[in-house]
Amino acid sequence: MSPINVLVTGKLLGKSNQRLSSFAQVSVCNNSNSMAKEELVKELTGADALVCILGDSIDAEVMQSCPDLKLIANVAVGYDNIDVACATQCGILVTNTPGVLDNATADLAMSLLLACARRICEADRYVRQGKWHEWNIELMLGVDLYGKTLGIVGMGRIGMAVARRAAAFGMKIIYARSGQEDSRDYQLHKELDAQRVSLDTLLSNADFVSLHCPLTENTSHLIGERELARMKPGSILINTSRGAVVNEKALLKALQEGKLGGAGLDVYEQEPHVPHELLLMDNVVLTPHIGSAGRETRIAMADLAVDGLITAFSGKPPGNMVNKDTWSHFIHRIRTRTS
Ligand code: GLV
Repeated sequence: MSPINVLVTGKLLGKSNQRLSSFAQVSVCNNSNSMAKEELVKELTGADALVCILGDSIDAEVMQSCPDLKLIANVAVGYDNIDVACATQCGILVTNTPGVLDNATADLAMSLLLACARRICEADRYVRQGKWHEWNIELMLGVDLYGKTLGIVGMGRIGMAVARRAAAFGMKIIYARSGQEDSRDYQLHKELDAQRVSLDTLLSNADFVSLHCPLTENTSHLIGERELARMKPGSILINTSRGAVVNEKALLKALQEGKLGGAGLDVYEQEPHVPHELLLMDNVVLTPHIGSAGRETRIAMADLAVDGLITAFSGKPPGNMVNKDTWSHFIHRIRTRTS
């Protein structure tokens, strides 16, 4: 049988590219940016698998134009860039990279939270711009974290990693999440004295709100005008999940009206577009979707994506499948693969 053809759209850090190359015929796109759809379809023609990044939009048109495609390994935990329902219909297995980026993403959420609370970026600009002429007691006065309440929306692995960090800073933790009560709630209560509350209660009680839910139909614009209006005056919103979880227009309005004390944003509705108004606000800290951008983390993500691909094409179900129900269809497709 001919070798398995794999297209890799982003650079894989570490040794995973070599490992993949010893298993399959690999072509790597030289372009370091996300690819335009026509280019992607062209490169993907005849490929059995795709290793892609979150900037690649893998929609029905792409999948239907590439009938040989059997597996999509997304080097990200979120997979809202992939039409998973269509992949399932086409018998395309989708994998992601859960678990390995929790600490890095939680570190970034805490960095944004600290940067907003203590006005780090603004203070840095102040010094660089030569504005610091004398010290005074109110210079760059921010807010303390100790004793404040952090509201975490979405309590998966990343939310928990944030909760542990924030508790170490002396913050009180409240959280809202979907699903039935389970051992996670018991554990969070026991370990951190964290309280599970409704989203509305969280918004009206938290001094800081940090978002950690995936983007789905249910969470799109979860934080809109109504929710922002419920937030405590002067509170700070941190978003390291997905831009569209927040209605960006409503957020801009809340910031412009001085309702919120600030925001720390790593994600935006139309990446890489960042609304111009945000660029002008001193109380907003902006990063370019770098939640998992720690070298060790990115290596672990590449390893997990490549391991999953090799495991799947070796006929064993990998642990990181998004659409597990596609497994038997996928296996049938690789067993009947002729070319
Ligand atoms: C990053 O945003 C990811 O989903 O991995």
